[in-house]
Parts: sequence; C-alpha cells; structure tokens
Amino acid sequence: MSESVKFDRAAEYYDETRGYPPGADTAVSALIAQAGRFAPHSSILEVGIGTGRVSLPLAPHVGSITGIDLSRPMMGKLRKKQNGEPIMLVEGDATRLPFAAQQFDGAVASHIFHLIPAWQQALAEVGRVLKPGAALISIWADEHNTFATLWDAWNRVVPHNPERVAGVDWRKQPNFIQDAGWQPMGDKLQHRYERTITPGTFMDQVRRRVWSMCWRFSDDDMAVGIPAMEAAIAEHYGSMDTIIHLDARIYVQAYLPPA
Ligand SMILES: C[S@@+](CC[C@H](N)C(=O)[O-])C[C@H]1O[C@@H](n2cnc3c(N)ncnc32)[C@H](O)[C@@H]1O
Repeated sequence: MSESVKFDRAAEYYDETRGYPPGADTAVSALIAQAGRFAPHSSILEVGIGTGRVSLPLAPHVGSITGIDLSRPMMGKLRKKQNGEPIMLVEGDATRLPFAAQQFDGAVASHIFHLIPAWQQALAEVGRVLKPGAALISIWADEHNTFATLWDAWNRVVPHNPERVAGVDWRKQPNFIQDAGWQPMGDKLQHRYERTITPGTFMDQVRRRVWSMCWRFSDDDMAVGIPAMEAAIAEHYGSMDTIIHLDARIYVQAYLPPA
C-alpha cells in the first residue's frame, strides 16, 4: 500500500488553483521539449500526470505520452479536457512502474516527488524505464514562498506542526535529483511570468485546504493558525485586499540517470 499523497480530494479544484498563467503552458512545453531534446516521434512518460496540466500542452511536441497516477479522479479530469492528444493513462504507483526497462525516450516530473515517501525508489524506477541517453525533465515553480511570513506566523502557534511534506522536502534539499546520482543535462531553463494575488485569496485557499500540506492540519491547528496568519497579514500587508505583484518563474531542468 502506497503512503504517497493521492490527489482524489483535489480533483475538483486542482486546475482552478494550480493552472498555469495565460501563455505559460505553450512556453513551458517548448522549454520541456528543448531541455529533453524531445522529437515528434518521442515516447514520453509523465509520473504523477494528474489533470494533464503539463502533458496536454506538451503533447504537440512529441509522439505519445504515457501518464501514470494513483488518482483516478485526477486523470478523469484530464480525460474530459483531452481533445485527440496521444496520451495514454495508467492507474499505478510511480515507485513500481508497470513498464519494461528502457522503454521511453524521456520522462517528465512536475510537483510529485514531495508527495512520495519512497521518492528515491520512484527516481530509480524512472531511470530504469528510460532508454540510454534519455532524460528526466523536472519542472517546478518558485512562487510558493510568497507568503513565507504568514507560514512563519502559523508555525509559531501551531503545536507539533506535522511534517509538511510526505516525500522529499525540496526546500531543504533543492538538489535532491542530483543527490540521487543524476547528472544535469544542459542549462536550467526558465519561464518568467507576473501575476497578482491578495492575502485574502491566499487565506481563502488555506481555509479550503487546497494544498496537500494542509490536508494534515487538524481543525484545532486551523483554529489557532488562521488567526495568527490574519494578524500577520494586518501587520505586513495592512489589508486582505492589498494587491501583491509576483515576479515568478517556472524552471525546467533535464537530468540523465546514474550510470
Ligand atoms: C501536485 S499533483 C501534480 C500533477 C501534475 N504533474 C501537475 O504538475 O499538475 C501530484 C499528482 O501525483 C499523484 N501521485 C502522488 N503520489 C504518486 C505516486 N506514488 N505514483 C503516482 N502518482 C502519484 C497525485 O495523485 C497527483 O495527481
């Protein structure tokens, strides 16, 4: 039984809260194809494909995509958006990939390894199914720390704050893929974008527990953590409606498996 964080409960709101900003899907897909040297015939694997946020716009760059995910409802959302893109879906666990060795011309992973306790095993599995010379493309966004002062306020009052992530904590171990023996291939590519957010929107998302780290919070945690965040908002931002401009980036880096 996997202890990974399955996203069934997020399927209904995931796209609304995690969607790429306008235009970013096209730009990021081109960067992924460039980083991985993907070609129109390439057969690509996405581990933790979710609702297809990454793979649907990537599909025009490659021959086919196979997506694996623990969550049938998340993949159901992808199916509803799919419009002829050659994407095959498999319900399964990234730590035990049901694929032959050296099968894929590339792999893609976005916001997944922090959800998998056995993340090293998942990485090893990706390495096993890649053809020689094929790369894993890791994609991540850097805007998540925008409200770090508010999480600091939360952490000061919530006792025994549960570990925020089930798998690798990429804030503490940002080079976790390299630490597992993978070699960067080419430069880290980035797509820069601007967007606005208000503290009120952020608090609404905390209350709705939209991020998986919030699923571990008890009602008692919420009862003391939320007022602490609201006080920090009054102190740092003045109002719930203050518009905050984010200068954010999506990063794309290719890695070759350990020899
Ligand atoms: C945060 S979502 C990311 C989805 C997509 N990659 C994206 O960037 O939008 C993480 C997805 O990984 C799935 N997941 C978590 N652990 C997994 C595992 N061990 N094997 C396969 N999928 C997993 C979840 O069910 C969820 O759909």
